[in-house]
Amino acid sequence: MTLLTVDNLTVSFPTADGTVQAVRGLSFSVDSGKTLGVVGESGSGKSVSALTMLGLNPGGDTTGSAKFNGRELLTMRKEELQKIRGAEIAMIFQDPLSSLHPHFRVGWQIAEAIRAHGDFSKDEAMNQAVELLRLVSIPQPERRIQAYPHEMSGGMRQRVMIAMALALKPKLLIADEPTTALDATVQAQLMELLIQMQREVGMAMIIITHDLGVIASIADEVLVMYAGRACENADARSLFFQPHHPYTRGLLGSVPSSTGVVGSRLVPIVGAPPSLINVPSGCGFHPRCPFAMDTCIDDQPDLNSIPAGVDHTSACWLPAEMTGVGIATDTARQRYAASHRTARAAKLPGVVAANADSAVYA
Ligand SMILES: Nc1ncnc2c1ncn2[C@@H]1O[C@H](COP(=O)(O)OP(=O)(O)OP(=O)(O)O)[C@@H](O)[C@H]1O
Ligand code: SF4
Ligand SMILES: [Mg+2]
Repeated sequence: MTLLTVDNLTVSFPTADGTVQAVRGLSFSVDSGKTLGVVGESGSGKSVSALTMLGLNPGGDTTGSAKFNGRELLTMRKEELQKIRGAEIAMIFQDPLSSLHPHFRVGWQIAEAIRAHGDFSKDEAMNQAVELLRLVSIPQPERRIQAYPHEMSGGMRQRVMIAMALALKPKLLIADEPTTALDATVQAQLMELLIQMQREVGMAMIIITHDLGVIASIADEVLVMYAGRACENADARSLFFQPHHPYTRGLLGSVPSSTGVVGSRLVPIVGAPPSLINVPSGCGFHPRCPFAMDTCIDDQPDLNSIPAGVDHTSACWLPAEMTGVGIATDTARQRYAASHRTARAAKLPGVVAANADSAVYA
């Protein structure tokens, strides 16, 4: 069953330098009990999209729709949205220090979160807080509830955040870069914990991350974002083994084989993400794309159905059957692009780099 449906979401911020088009017509959905991984380079609009749905993005001009359980979040009254936040949708932020109050003991903060959404006495809420800390594997929880945030390690604080988020058994948990600040072992433990919690509570999750390894280990569906738009959306298996969009292909080519992708080598995507004040025309990825054609400069592709995979969509002008990570597919992409390109597109940085190194994606 579909729990969250985001449709044509746009978010822009007026600034002194011009309008930042942070999210530009984003659509996706999340099913109950499933995990959506959202991936994309810095500045692609991942956090802004999540925060906007929860009404935590003051200053942004928003259009479109975000329906949770059939209810429109974007136009909901503040008090109503506040009730949903925490009780039905919980969010874990990247930096737990900025989300935990430094002057209050963590047990009190968790207990207050519980009491804000339910009819519990202080003692009942405190007992629940202890149980939650135990659930997220914090040793000696009866003692730890007395600690202040600064007395805990980064990993412990992140666990406290997860405990708070889970306090009300939300239907949807949004975790924005939940493990970036932590070392690899703690990251792995936290991911394991989230998966375990998901099984126990039966919640859906949106995991926002730069890390394709995290996505591979946890996501059912993957949404790849670029410059405020969805460029590819697919079940995790199709996305890793049958990617269509050259940006996805580039991301997969930039990670070592921990994702299990066969035949790719470590290749950076040329250039940097664009300014969202002056977004490139047509396909926003065209300046960096090794397969860019003239049409990519002029026309913005919509998400189209890709036959490889279930509900697989990609916003790219290359033929829908050109999916995969192997040399054969890359060669087919190159041939097709070269035959649909004039001198104008041949000058683009991504194309020049690809031609300079014929093995860019081999
Ligand atoms: N309040 C704001 N005013 C102006 N611009 C903003 C504001 N909030 C975000 N932006 C811009 O919106 C764009 C998208 O930001 P967002 O934080 O969603 O990126 P992200 O994909 O989460 O990146 P990261 O991976 O670095 O967290 C960025 O260019 C950012 O600078
Ligand atoms: S081939 Fe064209 S449409 Fe596809 S990603 Fe490259 S620039 Fe964009
Ligand atoms: Mg972010």
